[in-house]
Amino acid sequence: MAEPPIITLARATPPEKGTLVLCVAEGLALPPAAAELGLERQIRRAAETAGYKGKAFAVLDLLAPGDGRLDRVLLLGLGKPACLKPADWARLGGAAMGALKKGEAATVLLVRPDGEEVPPEAAADFCLGLRLRAYTFDRYKKEKDEAGESKGPDAKAPEGRAPDGKASGEAKGDAKKGPVSVTVGLGDPARAKKAFAARQAAAEGVVLARDLVNEPANLLGPVEFAERVKELASLGVEVEVLTEKEMREAKMGAFLGVAQGSARPPRICLMRWNGGAADSAPLAFVGKGVVFDTGGISMKPAGGMEDMKGDMAGAAAVAGLIKALAGRKARVNVLGAIGIVENMPDGAAQRPGDVVTAMSGQTIEVINTDAEGRLVLADVMTYVQERYKPRFLIDLATLTGAIIVALGNQHAGMFSTDDALAEALRAAGEATGEGVWRMPLSADYDKLIDSRIADVKNVGGRKAGAVTAAQFLKRFVKDLPWVHLDIAGTAMDSPQTEINRSWASGFGVRLLDRMVADRYEG
Ligand code: BES
Ligand code: MN
Ligand code: ZN
Repeated sequence: MAEPPIITLARATPPEKGTLVLCVAEGLALPPAAAELGLERQIRRAAETAGYKGKAFAVLDLLAPGDGRLDRVLLLGLGKPACLKPADWARLGGAAMGALKKGEAATVLLVRPDGEEVPPEAAADFCLGLRLRAYTFDRYKKEKDEAGESKGPDAKAPEGRAPDGKASGEAKGDAKKGPVSVTVGLGDPARAKKAFAARQAAAEGVVLARDLVNEPANLLGPVEFAERVKELASLGVEVEVLTEKEMREAKMGAFLGVAQGSARPPRICLMRWNGGAADSAPLAFVGKGVVFDTGGISMKPAGGMEDMKGDMAGAAAVAGLIKALAGRKARVNVLGAIGIVENMPDGAAQRPGDVVTAMSGQTIEVINTDAEGRLVLADVMTYVQERYKPRFLIDLATLTGAIIVALGNQHAGMFSTDDALAEALRAAGEATGEGVWRMPLSADYDKLIDSRIADVKNVGGRKAGAVTAAQFLKRFVKDLPWVHLDIAGTAMDSPQTEINRSWASGFGVRLLDRMVADRYEG
């Protein structure tokens, strides 16, 4: 993994050397520092030549400008600064980091050309964007390019970035060692520092989630996943791991039916973060952790099957969330529960048509062994409700291909029995840029999963596949507010953005961390 950047917040003063990043607004409105450094004419000339206008997220690179003491001046476009939404500040940080090179020491003057102060929260989000953009998953690459980023699609040049006039490979030899270090200069850094401490915890949660999702399944089975989760104990998280024995004792027939086709035994991890009052019921988050989904006997086609190493992204998001909450010592009690299992088709695998009995007592006709996530979640959700009596339950799962057809990679599907909880998530989605879109639940959809021989069947036919999957889960929810997030389209193979160039996005960590912070703490 590339070394994380060193990010410092300080009072805004132009640097003597290194790289300077200046924020410019549409129409090429420049901040006061441009004139103070005597760079105004040169900046305008360069911008004109490049057709650069200060559009939001666009970057222009000027080499050794002015008297030549600075290595580079990067112009970072804010577009119309008054129109920037909270989620845009992280994207701006990402765009800035995308233009920096390994070992480079940069100073960003986070100063609006119109003289308005950048609020501390926005500055913290900017720093978060710096950190998230610097993420690469290169632990299995021996050969690194001189910029320190791994070769391949992760290292693509950011869109909207003007060509820097340097032929590739020219930097060879003078590539500096070490991580990028960025000083972010502000009018009032003290409050931004505090806000960034919390964002930094969130960023580390996202990094954990991305690492887990990117990791290949041969190296991350259920046992290895559980080992990674146990490391959260160093942050004060109580971690308990259930093995097959406890699952059998709890009568988790649905979960164990999925596990029985794999040579690798399943695990359930229970993570408790107790930052709230001793007597307050926890918020519960449940994640689908299928380390690899072949489909089982109802096997998937070969094309693209390798992506099913990411079928544990729900579990990864829950682990990342717990890391984020513990990292910033959130004042709330939270339970994270993840069901980790591999869906394989060996001689002991379950068959289409099998009937299993879930922990809740309901019988399930397994029509399609590829609809395994709901079987795993059903038992983990029952266990969590019975043992912890949580205030609400939110589950995250890469549950259906159908949600990708419906919403693409831009929104996660949200299904809820509770309008207030759904609204809290919608608002957090807007604030973080991790969007969720509400989908329907109703008795008419529920009918589609009635079975002829059991209480319920695990598929509802070709139509409304994401909805019938959610209806299945709903049958295992007792009387408490519940949200299901189908993150199949958003957690992996996600669009390349300013803040993510990796295959895994870490979707859900920032969304849930924000929702908890805004609605359930203090
Ligand atoms: N893990 C898949 C869903 C998925 C598909 C996630 C693509 C990410 C990308 C899930 O277990 C699955 O196979 N769902 C089936 C359900 C069907 C058999 C009813 C699907 O979506 O095809
Ligand atoms: Mn499946
Ligand atoms: Zn799956």
